[in-house]
Amino acid sequence: MNSVITHQIADNLFLIRTIDRKLKYFEALWEVPEGMVYNAYLLKTSEGGVLFDTTKANYTEPFLEALRDLIDPKEIKHLVVHHMEPDHSGAMSAVLETIGDHVQVWGHPFAKRLIKSLYDLDPNFQTVKDDTVLEIGGKKLTFRQMPWLHWPECMITYIPEDGFLFGGDIFGSYGIPDGIFDDDGDDLHEFLHLAREYFASVIGHYKSYVNKNLLKLEGESASPKMILPAHGLLWRKNPAQIMDAYTNWANGTPVKGKVVVVYSSMYGFVEKSIQVVIDDLEKRGFNPEILRITDEHRDDLVDILGQIPDSEAVIIATATYEAGIFPLMAYIIDEILHKVAYEKPMLLLSTFGWGGMVSKQLKPKLEESSFHLVDVIEIKGLLDDESREKILAGVSKLVDAIHSP
Ligand SMILES: Cc1cc2nc3c(=O)[nH]c(=O)nc-3n(C[C@H](O)[C@H](O)[C@H](O)COP(=O)(O)O)c2cc1C
Ligand SMILES: [Fe+2]
Ligand SMILES: [Fe+2]
Repeated sequence: MNSVITHQIADNLFLIRTIDRKLKYFEALWEVPEGMVYNAYLLKTSEGGVLFDTTKANYTEPFLEALRDLIDPKEIKHLVVHHMEPDHSGAMSAVLETIGDHVQVWGHPFAKRLIKSLYDLDPNFQTVKDDTVLEIGGKKLTFRQMPWLHWPECMITYIPEDGFLFGGDIFGSYGIPDGIFDDDGDDLHEFLHLAREYFASVIGHYKSYVNKNLLKLEGESASPKMILPAHGLLWRKNPAQIMDAYTNWANGTPVKGKVVVVYSSMYGFVEKSIQVVIDDLEKRGFNPEILRITDEHRDDLVDILGQIPDSEAVIIATATYEAGIFPLMAYIIDEILHKVAYEKPMLLLSTFGWGGMVSKQLKPKLEESSFHLVDVIEIKGLLDDESREKILAGVSKLVDAIHSP
């Protein structure tokens, strides 16, 4: 199976998609057994070609081969750099060398610095501001800086003549779609789930920049005819679907009834307590989304983070471990606070054997965060009736907070 495929999207526009089946951990961090794709694009015009982004370094050769099948690289006049993260820029040195010195490189001023610092290159660089337009072959490539979606130098391109919006990381997703477009038969429910995981883990920390930046899409560019992201499917049937999804995730718009429960349990003590929570939530008509760390099962961090943006509330439960927080949960909680902290109600439940430390160490952190910590419940040893009552009271507080934010 080819690792780089091409597809004609419009008269003069081609997708060059790298299919990364070897990927296990995106950014050496995020568990992605589904793999991932890196979308570059080529526009061919009577006045020369425009290449939008490249690919990861280890796919340089197949990328160049695919490019050569589409165009004589010497005919490429411009390289548009939407984002300098090496999943899109890793092949840049080889691509620039293949095209030749005449190529103009278009990007955010910060991209120029990154081209120098990452690749020690100093190409013919054209600085992009919010009103910069590149006119070529009867098209006005209109750029907008999109800082922090996902790095400081990110930007998008809009082609008004076609209504095409090249998003870079924004509107992207994990996963290797079967199709090219959103109407090619991929299961969009499943795909949006992967997109939400991508959003949470990659864009999440900068989610406050989503609304600000999307306001820069004025007029027709606010409702493009097609969205062409750097990862995942291209959206032509319903571009609003991925735009609305990203906006909702950035805002933390909840799906009614969805409560995320994340817990760890070494020997089942936390598990017994959290079961009280889960049963009560279900009795009250909620849908708990349960993610757990046990001796038999471990949910991926990316799955945990990905469940939070559209939840109504979050419940965390873990044990004291060597006078601290159970280590995997300490890491998970840090990442939740770093990536997907929202103004949502939160409940903390902790258990201990002889000297509980979870509440002491976590409470100040959680209180400082965007979450609204409604209650902290500590349970010593075996779950008894008194603890059960405390848990039920905590769930009541959480439900009240959901109903009257
Ligand atoms: C490796 C290990 C270290 C522990 N360290 C502490 C500790 O420092 N202080 C404490 O009060 N309890 C400690 N405990 C006891 C647990 O916090 C307690 O049994 C808890 O209820 C376990 O819940 P779980 O089995 O659901 O993880 C420790 C337990 C284990 C297995
Ligand atoms: Fe990125
Ligand atoms: Fe990317």
